[in-house]
Amino acid sequence: MDIVFELKNVSYSYIKSQPALIDVSFNVLKGESLIILGANGSGKSTLLKLMDGLIKPDRGEISAFGKSILNLKDDQEYQFRRKVGYLFQDSDVQLFNACVFDEVAFAPLQMGLNPDRVKSMVEKTLESFGIAKLKDRPPHRLSGGEKKEGGFSINNGDKSRCLAFR
Ligand SMILES: Nc1ncnc2c1ncn2[C@@H]1O[C@H](COP(=O)(O)OP(=O)(O)OP(=O)(O)O)[C@@H](O)[C@H]1O
Ligand SMILES: [Mg+2]
Repeated sequence: MDIVFELKNVSYSYIKSQPALIDVSFNVLKGESLIILGANGSGKSTLLKLMDGLIKPDRGEISAFGKSILNLKDDQEYQFRRKVGYLFQDSDVQLFNACVFDEVAFAPLQMGLNPDRVKSMVEKTLESFGIAKLKDRPPHRLSGGEKKEGGFSINNGDKSRCLAFR
């Protein structure tokens, strides 16, 4: 049983007097798809931001791939970010390139991959998400759902092993 994420007694507050998460513990196993359901404001996005290391817990421990993610050094953070993709609830904060193709190509190009390889990777990814026809479209000309698919493709084009969304 491979554990990918391990959360132990995680608590977090944006505002001290109003805790967003209290004492949350669970594991995510390799190959597992986990759906987190809850009312608006119940802490779903906060939980995912913690698991992506975007914010740090006030208390508790979070590990990914067997290592704590709370004090990653630059090179460890780089490796972690190559494996874990995050899809923001508000797509507009994530999409900033001139067209969908450039969005999906952005991360692999930043990673220094060969542009020809990136081109074929992006084409395959867009095809697999069924959004090849949108490749030249600017993000602000997409529907909400199409923006989400674009965000998924970005993470997939980056060869992420885990995706956290919303
Ligand atoms: N930036 C912030 N500053 C202060 N409080 C925040 C902030 N973001 C979220 N909160 C509060 O933290 C709690 C959890 O919010 P969170 O965004 O994690 O909820 P959610 O389950 O994702 O909700 P939704 O279904 O509406 O997306 C809520 O009470 C919310 O008001
Ligand atoms: Mg949310």
